[in-house]
Amino acid sequence: MRAHDVIVTKRDGGRLTDEQIDWFISTYAGTDEIADEQAAALIMAIFLNGLEPDELTHWTGAMIDSGDRLDLSAISRPTVDKHSTGGVGDKISLIVVPLLAACGAAVPQLSGRGLGHTGGTLDKMEAIPGWRSEMSLEQMHQQLDTIGGVIAGASASLAPADRKLYALRDVTATVESIPLIASSIMSKKIAEGTRALALDVKVGSGAFMPDVASADELARTMVRLGEAHGVSTSALVTRMDGLLGATAGNALEVAEALDVLTGGGPADVVELSIALAEEMARLAGLDVDVAATLASGAAMDSFAAMVAAQGGDLSAGLPVAAHIRHVTATEPGFVHGINARRVGVAAWLLGAGRARKEDPVSPTAGVVALVRPGDEVEAGQPVLAMHADHESRFERAERELAGSVTIGAGSVEAAPMVIETVP
Ligand code: URA
Repeated sequence: MRAHDVIVTKRDGGRLTDEQIDWFISTYAGTDEIADEQAAALIMAIFLNGLEPDELTHWTGAMIDSGDRLDLSAISRPTVDKHSTGGVGDKISLIVVPLLAACGAAVPQLSGRGLGHTGGTLDKMEAIPGWRSEMSLEQMHQQLDTIGGVIAGASASLAPADRKLYALRDVTATVESIPLIASSIMSKKIAEGTRALALDVKVGSGAFMPDVASADELARTMVRLGEAHGVSTSALVTRMDGLLGATAGNALEVAEALDVLTGGGPADVVELSIALAEEMARLAGLDVDVAATLASGAAMDSFAAMVAAQGGDLSAGLPVAAHIRHVTATEPGFVHGINARRVGVAAWLLGAGRARKEDPVSPTAGVVALVRPGDEVEAGQPVLAMHADHESRFERAERELAGSVTIGAGSVEAAPMVIETVP
């Protein structure tokens, strides 16, 4: 088989055969026989011409087969996971993984680190003193059986084709393609071995998907792929217009997740956590009252057990930033919104995120919103707090945050977090 012929097929709008897909993905992932420029040409042809539903199912299967697929069938609890398409201040995994564990499920949440302005779950967890993301397969099985929740680093052996393809998409302007995003996310999640999966597909100015129609299409595509590969899958399309909760930054987000696990926390974070956890419980076949389990403190106990099993010490307290500077309201009125993208970029500039994947992150840096949409403010009132290890970080972050809190006349009501459930 020749890469050239595979590219011609897709360039001319044809359907790739199963043999072409298997050969291309296994050869590109496993050898140097296919050059990056040939893979880039095929990816661009897919970006422009798409993949038929059964072609995409096969493409995703070939990506899964490029590495290991974990076998969690020996776990005594029903396995279920969640995945979010990414948003600023998204600390929901830190809440729903222990919540589902407390409900009787096993949640194998294999996560990544953050890149750019959205934070990664591992970076957040690593703000807890002593916590380690590495664990053997044997430890993972044991923790899933006993405690029910694991948050750990995804091994390089899961869907290795995606690593190469994603790096290529990043530099060839081919990330924003529904079949490519769907196969990238689902190949990793299916390879992780979970039997059920709830997806949080975010839509709005702070998200990958700018409008409900494209978020709905991505959600339907991923649900179909999950089901085609034997994973019970559903998706919630959720609102991501503003900052989720009041914090963006690693330790700051852990503190907010702890607030929710102990019965407090911002209403939007609680609402979304319960909606996703209910969907996960339904998919896992558990007949439980998720909100009551959260209120009972059992999810907090599960989180403490998960943290301790991975070397973390919650009693040591979370690290705090050496410096805090406020951003103030420029006019009186009501808060209409907080721009999530700007807050994410500012948190990143303050040190919470990385520009290159090998960069270190600050556990303490980030942004805290001191007001919520609907609050009335006076001119000069502090509305955001920037946290950083060095004062030199403040200037650029402050410029990014200028105008990020919109203030207008008349109060606003919070819209529901969940726009639709798919299917
Ligand atoms: N996240 C992924 O893992 N892959 C994509 O293509 C986009 C977001």
